Amino acid sequence: MKEKPKYKSLKGMPDILPEQMRIMRWVEKEARSMFHLFGYSEIGTPLLEATEVFARSIGENTDIVEKEMYSFVDRGGKHISLRPEGTASVIRSYIEQCFFENKDLIKLFYTGPMFRGERPQKGRLRQFHQIGVEAIGFSHPQIDAELIFSLNQLLTKLKISGFTVLVNSLGCSNDRKIFEKELKKYLKTRKSDLCENCQKRSEKNVLRVLDCKRELCRKVMEKAPKIASFLCDGCAEDFKTTRDILASLKVAYQVKEDLVRGLDYYTGVIFEVIHPALGAQDALAAGGRYDNLSVQMGGPEVGASGYALGMERLLLAIDEKDLPEYVPGVLIVYIDKELRKEAFELALKLLSRDIGCEIDHSGRSFKGQMRKANREKRPFIILMGSEEVKQKKCLVKNMKTGEQELLAFEKCVDFFGSLGQE
Ligand code: HAM
Repeated sequence: MKEKPKYKSLKGMPDILPEQMRIMRWVEKEARSMFHLFGYSEIGTPLLEATEVFARSIGENTDIVEKEMYSFVDRGGKHISLRPEGTASVIRSYIEQCFFENKDLIKLFYTGPMFRGERPQKGRLRQFHQIGVEAIGFSHPQIDAELIFSLNQLLTKLKISGFTVLVNSLGCSNDRKIFEKELKKYLKTRKSDLCENCQKRSEKNVLRVLDCKRELCRKVMEKAPKIASFLCDGCAEDFKTTRDILASLKVAYQVKEDLVRGLDYYTGVIFEVIHPALGAQDALAAGGRYDNLSVQMGGPEVGASGYALGMERLLLAIDEKDLPEYVPGVLIVYIDKELRKEAFELALKLLSRDIGCEIDHSGRSFKGQMRKANREKRPFIILMGSEEVKQKKCLVKNMKTGEQELLAFEKCVDFFGSLGQE
């Protein structure tokens, strides 16, 4: 047994191992091609931003800003933070780059790591990856419905089943203000029945009490006022239109009256997709409308809406049998160690024609090389023996069918070249 490693990755920030990375890249590829269909272009924003960008948008009193951000003062004395999510950065960029000048709906998507110093558990990491989309420029229920539809399409494309789409509306900022006031009033009368955390939340960030999973808080919330009764006519109508479009698109959803979000910028329709494979951290994706964020961050008054999927959680929900198979390249097996040079030359010929190919560099015996080919499930191997090599030939073997054919080196390259074009 090896000694304990001197250095380990930080808690909640694991390495992404090759097999996991392969699946993540596949998910990203599927997402990219689907977002392009819906007219989204990709944007990249930095991992670090001024702390203010997140504090102003996500909200000073949210858990993320209060205790989960990786914030520090740089050498120039600037307060900066690792991004805990993507929306604030995209809006910062939208304003900074004056995207609003062409008065169109700007559709952007992004992928990449986010950082939150939460207590790690299954599906909850400190460095995790999101795929996010933002539609900025207008406020319309059709946009919200299209977003939820695209999310549903993507999950279906990834062959994820058994998920549930939950929707709710938080109303406009005016509705929200009235509701928060009423909720606070109610919670004041039940304060002693709440958990310690919710007692604090009921004063500072009252909507979060709706999200508490503790039994005693859930009991208190059963009798609490419901946001639905506080929606103005416009917000109620928008919420109904979004639901009607979803129904016409046959996107199954459930209205969850107490659905809230952990970020402060939402107004209007919000949604979440949950999946039973995830356990306690059951949200695969979440988002909603955030019409006030641009103004809040010093930009123009524009409607906006979006969502983000958690990559690590997607990986938990994807069934292994639905993953694309990894097909390794050809392995050149040389029977005699003396043939290593010729084997390498043939490998380079294949590689220069973009044909995946490797030889064993570690000097394994013939048997050892064959074991490697079987273990790695190589679909083809090329066998090189001294007699064949003298004639500049090799044996191409299909490992599935067992069929083999003696081919001149050039013909062998052409054979694999033509396979690649099929
Ligand atoms: P969020 O709900 O904070 O929203 O995160 C979106 C998704 O990221 C979650 O549903 C979950 O799948 C994943 N996620 C969040 N935290 C973690 C974690 N600690 N470990 C693993 N996965 C995690 C947002 O971030 C908003 N910016 C979404 C949005 C975009 N709203 C509008 N546009």
